[in-house]
Amino acid sequence: MTSTDTQRDLEEARLRVEELRSLVRYHDYRYHVLNQPEIGDSDYDRLFRELVDLEARFPELVTPDSPTQRVSGEPSPAFGVVVHREPMLSLGNVFDGDELRAWHARVARLLERDDFAMVCEPKIDGLAISLVYQRGRFTVGATRGDGLRGEDITGNLRTIRSLPLAVSTDPAPDAFEVRGEVYMSKAEFERLNAERTAAGEPLYMNPRNTAAGSLRQLDPSVTASRRLELFVYQLGWMEGAARPPAHWAALEWMQAAGFPTNPLAQRFETIEEVAAFCEQLGTKREGLRYAIDGVVVKVDDISLQRQLGVVGREPRWATAYKFPAEQAVTLLRDIMVSVGRTGVLTPFAVLEPVFVGGATVSVATLHNEDQVRLKDLYIGDDVVVQRAGEVIPEVIGPVPSRREGRELRRFEMPARCPVCDTPVVRDPNQAATYCPNRACPSRLARSIEHWASRGAMDIEGLGEQLAARLVRLELVRSLADIYELPARREELLQLGGIGPKIVENLFARIEESKTRPLRRLLVALGIRHVGGETATALAVHFGSMDALRAASLEDLSAIDGIGPIVAASVYDYLHDEEYAALLDRLQTLGLRMTDETAARGGPLENETIVVTGSLERWSRDRIEALIKQLGGKVGSSVTKKTTMLVAGEGGGSKRDKAEAAGTPILDEEQFLAVLRERGWSGD
Ligand code: IVH
Repeated sequence: MTSTDTQRDLEEARLRVEELRSLVRYHDYRYHVLNQPEIGDSDYDRLFRELVDLEARFPELVTPDSPTQRVSGEPSPAFGVVVHREPMLSLGNVFDGDELRAWHARVARLLERDDFAMVCEPKIDGLAISLVYQRGRFTVGATRGDGLRGEDITGNLRTIRSLPLAVSTDPAPDAFEVRGEVYMSKAEFERLNAERTAAGEPLYMNPRNTAAGSLRQLDPSVTASRRLELFVYQLGWMEGAARPPAHWAALEWMQAAGFPTNPLAQRFETIEEVAAFCEQLGTKREGLRYAIDGVVVKVDDISLQRQLGVVGREPRWATAYKFPAEQAVTLLRDIMVSVGRTGVLTPFAVLEPVFVGGATVSVATLHNEDQVRLKDLYIGDDVVVQRAGEVIPEVIGPVPSRREGRELRRFEMPARCPVCDTPVVRDPNQAATYCPNRACPSRLARSIEHWASRGAMDIEGLGEQLAARLVRLELVRSLADIYELPARREELLQLGGIGPKIVENLFARIEESKTRPLRRLLVALGIRHVGGETATALAVHFGSMDALRAASLEDLSAIDGIGPIVAASVYDYLHDEEYAALLDRLQTLGLRMTDETAARGGPLENETIVVTGSLERWSRDRIEALIKQLGGKVGSSVTKKTTMLVAGEGGGSKRDKAEAAGTPILDEEQFLAVLRERGWSGD
């Protein structure tokens, strides 16, 4: 291979890596922040795997902000931020006994011994949380968030009955943290859905998402009405007393203190016993009160855990043995098409209802036309349906042996939009078919729903159904019309089903949503490839919509973490005549359109930092963006307000000034040490 070939390969890989990163970030955001996943676990895993593989082949493409390098999810700005003193990690997976034994062998090799004990616990399919106790009282509870910073959901957690608000322990530490999983029992999930059926409301998808949604309610009384439960599975940091030296002892300590620990947990001496436990629990899974998706296996001895350490976002001392996804065979009755916010036509399977993985499934997404062909699906086939991790059901493929004597029909993408009848457009690069009509009622309704969703403008009460009605009755023809609804009070009331109180409430929420910061507005607009992370990077960098709109394509591509595809998408959106008019109108309607960049509660809160000289680790842009992301301010010159000077090579006069004023001067390594000390574990 010539060097130009290699160069071309690298260039191609770079583009694909950028694309995969924005896709992974987008789906992370849907899953963790909006609690509205769009694709199934195995499709997500495929994207993530491809990214990991490409980065392994082209290590020069790895960047510190790649999703492979961090724990996904990000705190919602609606809650206060809690910085985790120690990062909350995720787990590597093994899928069968052989992979489990291989994990054990690797651990044994690293430790140079194989006589270590292990603890097995069910892997609860819920939400990880961190609980801090001070002098025996529960003081702060938080979600995992991105692993470094989570949301402060103390008030909501207090409503969980099995969470002890006070504990007495001997010895009594001054303060400590425990971690665990909040979950919803299968029975409670069924109860809630029965209520929703009775009220004619759309059903919740699965216990995990429902638990997540319940925990992130702004009103704790809503959380309280959902009857969530808790298992603790890890003792975090501890002050003023010695931590138990082993995980099993920590579980006993937590149990004695009054925390709910899982009764199925067991400690074993050999990997064969562990493997037997995993297999056995797999067979008992269906009969449990709550959903589990595997077994967590942990090295018991804490000093051995330390010795093994962490790689990337996964500890070497633990792994998750994942149960095989549950599958069932059913009839593929039809393939229909839905039209999403961006106009993409997505085929979905209409199935003979079948019970799989703890729920009845009657529809499943098929992603796109190529998937239908690739999977060789025909209407009238018997198909294998899978629900992995109790998330979105997927059609795996047909059962060709059952085809004989059946009438099979090939699926064709419609030539016209099934909703507005506009001729569709096929994008040859994207394997996607679009309805190009921006006014398509389905696109508009989905855009409104997205606009009002929690990670975007967060307008409670404006959900799927209301959005569809507003569009159908032509009360909303453009996103900006949402803000003119208050002028149409009477028409809304005439819709029926919505009382004056609900309408007033809705108007209050709509008004309040005008104050959302730029980052949320950017998410709400639904610009292609712009999820929470990209929106935050843009908002932090530009500070206002005006500045963002004035940016050139080069300005946009120069921002760390924003690749050429994303930059072009943002630029095109902002310079599209119709969208520009929308932005103008939103501005006139009084939406905020700015972002005071400092992230409150970050590790650099209350710091005003000046950077000088040339740095090796970070570009100037990157370090300034980082300071802002972590809650600090960036100063341009050393003044009384400056709290630290980060100085690289050179940087003469600022250094002199800081020295004279007694302002702390840190080199890059010292600055990094400060960040680490304050709980940051990025770059
Ligand atoms: S231990 C480093 N134990 O699984 C140890 N996690 O994929 C990390 N989970 O975020 C956690 N049950 O939400 C642990 N018994 C258990 C668990 C458990 C469920 C979840 C937890 C974590 C995720 C990791």
